[in-house]
Amino acid sequence: MRHLWTALRVLLALLAGVSNSEVIVYPRYYQQSRRHRELYKNGSTCVTLSPSSPVVTLDYETEVGGYPFLHATSLSGPVQVEAKYSEARDGLDAPYGDGPWVFSNGLSNSFRVETFNITQPGSVESFFQQGGQRWQSLRLLNGDRSVRMCSVGIRSLNDRTPVKELPGYFESSNPLYNEIWSLGPRTVQQACIAKGAAPTTWEVTPLGVLLRGQQSAQSALGTEYANYTLAFDTKIVRGGTGWRVATSINGYGLSLSLSSNYPAQSTLLNTNRSLLPPNTLAVGYGWNLVNQTSLTSGRVSYFPLSLDVKENEWMRIATSIEETGYRIFINDQPSITIPLSELQIIPEQRFGTDNVYTGTWGFGPYQDQIAYVKNVEVRARNGTILYHNAMTSESILGEYGIMDNQESVCLDGAKRDRLVWSGDFVHTHRIVSASTGRVDFIKGTLRYILDRQESSGPMAGLFTMSPAMGQPTEYTSIYKAYGLLDYQMHILNSFARYYLESADERFLQQYWPKVKTGVEAILPLVDSSTGLASLSIPGVFFLGDENGTAASALFAYTMDRMAKLAEIMEESDAAAHWSDVARGLSLAINKQLWNSELGTYSSSLASPNATSFIGTAWAILSNTPNTSQAASSIRALSSLRLGIGYKLTSDVSDSDPSTNISPNLSGFLLEALFAYSRDNPYNNSHSEAVDVLLNGLWAAMVTQDEYYSGTSWEYVYPDGRPGLDLFTSHAHPWGGAPTYVFTEYILGIQPTAPGFTKWSFRPTLAHTGLNWAKGRVPTPHGTIEASWKVERNGRVVSTTACSPKGTWGTLSLPLAARECRLNDTVVTRNCDRDGVLIPIEDGKCSVISILLSRPVSTST
Ligand SMILES: *[C@@H]1O[C@H](CO)[C@@H](O)[C@H](O)[C@H]1NC(C)=O
Ligand SMILES: *[C@@H]1O[C@H](CO)[C@@H](O)[C@H](O)[C@H]1NC(C)=O
Ligand SMILES: *[C@@H]1O[C@H](CO)[C@@H](O)[C@H](O)[C@H]1NC(C)=O
Ligand SMILES: *[C@@H]1O[C@H](CO)[C@@H](O)[C@H](O)[C@H]1NC(C)=O
Ligand SMILES: *[C@@H]1O[C@H](CO)[C@@H](O)[C@H](O)[C@H]1NC(C)=O
Ligand SMILES: *[C@@H]1O[C@H](CO)[C@@H](O)[C@H](O)[C@H]1NC(C)=O
Ligand SMILES: *[C@@H]1O[C@H](CO)[C@@H](O)[C@H](O)[C@H]1NC(C)=O
Ligand SMILES: *[C@@H]1O[C@H](CO)[C@@H](O)[C@H](O)[C@H]1NC(C)=O
Ligand SMILES: *[C@@H]1O[C@H](CO)[C@@H](O)[C@H](O)[C@H]1NC(C)=O
Ligand SMILES: *[C@@H]1O[C@H](CO)[C@@H](O)[C@H](O)[C@H]1NC(C)=O
Ligand SMILES: *[C@@H]1O[C@H](CO)[C@@H](O)[C@H](O)[C@H]1NC(C)=O
Repeated sequence: MRHLWTALRVLLALLAGVSNSEVIVYPRYYQQSRRHRELYKNGSTCVTLSPSSPVVTLDYETEVGGYPFLHATSLSGPVQVEAKYSEARDGLDAPYGDGPWVFSNGLSNSFRVETFNITQPGSVESFFQQGGQRWQSLRLLNGDRSVRMCSVGIRSLNDRTPVKELPGYFESSNPLYNEIWSLGPRTVQQACIAKGAAPTTWEVTPLGVLLRGQQSAQSALGTEYANYTLAFDTKIVRGGTGWRVATSINGYGLSLSLSSNYPAQSTLLNTNRSLLPPNTLAVGYGWNLVNQTSLTSGRVSYFPLSLDVKENEWMRIATSIEETGYRIFINDQPSITIPLSELQIIPEQRFGTDNVYTGTWGFGPYQDQIAYVKNVEVRARNGTILYHNAMTSESILGEYGIMDNQESVCLDGAKRDRLVWSGDFVHTHRIVSASTGRVDFIKGTLRYILDRQESSGPMAGLFTMSPAMGQPTEYTSIYKAYGLLDYQMHILNSFARYYLESADERFLQQYWPKVKTGVEAILPLVDSSTGLASLSIPGVFFLGDENGTAASALFAYTMDRMAKLAEIMEESDAAAHWSDVARGLSLAINKQLWNSELGTYSSSLASPNATSFIGTAWAILSNTPNTSQAASSIRALSSLRLGIGYKLTSDVSDSDPSTNISPNLSGFLLEALFAYSRDNPYNNSHSEAVDVLLNGLWAAMVTQDEYYSGTSWEYVYPDGRPGLDLFTSHAHPWGGAPTYVFTEYILGIQPTAPGFTKWSFRPTLAHTGLNWAKGRVPTPHGTIEASWKVERNGRVVSTTACSPKGTWGTLSLPLAARECRLNDTVVTRNCDRDGVLIPIEDGKCSVISILLSRPVSTST
């Protein structure tokens, strides 16, 4: 049956014109105890695990996600091999690897430890994909047997094209910067998932749904129900079965896990009998039965059963939500009473209600467990049946948010949260544009978000913020994910940017009505008395306080972009109104938030003496400061230095070692610094800040082998280690801004008319420490290639640029020039002490060299 379905799916995918290429990724190195690491060569490398050498460590060198497999060529008897996965090396020493993921299951294995049961020679592949890792270990669990494996690796549905071969590319005279540029493409290669490349992890069969150990998935139909009884049939295939009631739709609430009697022949040798004792109901409250760094859950209470919980036998379990707690009935016998006092409810958990009576239900056995579930029924206290589902039809997949992924989308991170976070996409989008050129991911992600817009209530017009891959559009208002208001602005900006890059008229026309509604939905955020961004819609700004510089400036930037789009749509009233809003916000920021004593912007009206680097970043990006204000606020960043980077605001303590430095927000600052620097080549106010960000913060991601993954990180501690401990994502596109900043500002290629029909070549030449840079940028018309070199002590700039047919470039440099030559012919127009502006003809390559009358300094 399963095979039939798989075949049918493949056929449907082929008919739909989707082909997911797969690639087998082998480790680069392997290491067995006490020996040195060795190069792994498929075909000739074989590894024997035995009681004297039970562990092998595999190193894939850079991040890779996919289906782990191994090929056992011989074994001395049935064996069990535990696999563990981690992005950082030290995760292999932790009991749960760098997991588990408790915020969503990501259509992947939410556990980072799994066990292969190998009974005969041949290939074994995990049922689940692992989202992403550099490191893996394999450990033989049997003390008296051995297994020889030739060929171990990951079958990946993601793109592993080497960075140098991608459509977009960047290289410069600084090898460290080249490594930093490469972090972005490798990250989006693993964090963007092609349509169909994340199939459902629930297997629907005529016997019910077969569930393997994974973070639970919840029904979208029960979020409003309270005080009900959930009943279902379940058959444990291995280990136990797991479910939830009174839980939030993203899985925060009561969590129940029933273990079997652990029969010897079907029990894994590494089953954690202290976490899940046999014949016992384990009851937790929160996300999971174990704590995860930033997502804590209550302690687990254990209720041993008097009956024997047999595997491979159906039983009916009912859970009733009652005033003083929960009652569990097994096969209609009242078996366990769980008083509310047994729950440890940790207050102030985000995304949960802490309401012990209300919320939906969900299913998910624990690590390596397998169980069937069918005939689910939910009954109100008065006896009314609220829900009934046999769980034998594929329609449950949408309801539980666990369908095959329907669209090519970019996630926030390869291993977690594996959600389509809308705000993160503002970075992801530009990394993709500068490197992999995968327009399917850009359009797919935009569609995924824009198709999920709230239609009524106080959030009407807002786009969802973090849909899961398996989630259909119809439940958008049930998931209610809108709270971060800056994310609304970012997704609008991404939409505008996609049009600028593509001139995709059809897409613009199709989504304009939704986008316009989305813009109108945030207009009320302008506070009528301050003219700044306030929280008149329920939610928060991730960027900082209301009436603050950062949120108000991002808002101004967004309204400016939206006004330009309205002009293209020939909606002149909207265009005029929206650009007034943008101007008004900038004026209000300058009038109320410029702190002349500090020489920079205040964080917000409420904290006039506090400053934030993200305020400076968005102020500059929104063209709010004049040149001297910009220079002065950049110099004032030095007061925010903390370890290898900048702390978010001056209010953050210098001594708290758990403070995270944010590559995400630092990315906006990096763009602002280069925007300033590119336009002010004779000023070096920004040098120190560029040095901090590139040689401090981003260098940390490439120079420490024990943490290196070839990809960009979510957070970093002030001492340069990855932030948030093992939980942190080492493949988070939001940490990869240097990729697009280098391409757009150091190489200096940016579209200036929709679809790159016009583009500018305006590199940052001064104070970057670089003597040359070269690269290529994909456009709808072909690839732009460009390079520059600064020679003769900053007196000569030599550039080359090739413009695809149908696109016209302009070399633009704010440098005082004495003489310009195009293909060795002197150009006199627009080449003087006010700067250089030289057209680059379509379909041609131009070699332009400039003799400067005032030299530039490349030193930092
Ligand atoms: C890797 O090695 C195995 C075992 O020798 C072989 O069957 C397989 O075809 C090889 N894979 C590739 C991609 O070469
Ligand atoms: C391993 O596989 C064998 C053969 O299918 C099966 O009999 C046994 O129960 C399995 N063991 C576990 C722990 O799942
Ligand atoms: C088993 O579970 C306990 C918690 O009950 C935990 O402390 C321990 O680390 C776990 N061990 C392994 C190997 O997972
Ligand atoms: C998680 O940590 C909190 C706070 O440290 C603690 O109170 C709670 O009992 C822990 N939960 C689990 C499941 O260990
Ligand atoms: C559920 O029951 C609790 C306790 O009896 C009660 O306080 C609450 O109002 C009930 N909720 C609903 C929605 O009926
Ligand atoms: C029974 O309870 C449900 C859910 O609370 C409610 O919708 C329904 O109207 C009630 N029916 C009767 C007959 O009271
Ligand atoms: C990460 O980036 C998004 C996009 O700006 C932003 O909204 C969010 O606040 C950032 N998170 C942090 C604290 O780094
Ligand atoms: C923002 O400004 C408005 C108008 O002065 C005020 O009502 C609101 O309290 C301010 N919010 C904060 C956090 O200062
Ligand atoms: C901010 O600093 C100025 C001058 O240093 C001081 O007069 C003012 O009281 C401070 N404001 C706040 C809210 O701390
Ligand atoms: C820039 O703005 C500041 C603060 O409003 C002002 O003092 C300064 O004169 C302005 N500089 C220029 C060149 O306009
Ligand atoms: C410059 O010279 C190259 C090589 O001869 C030629 O292909 C190109 O068309 C010339 N460019 C322009 C703008 O004439």
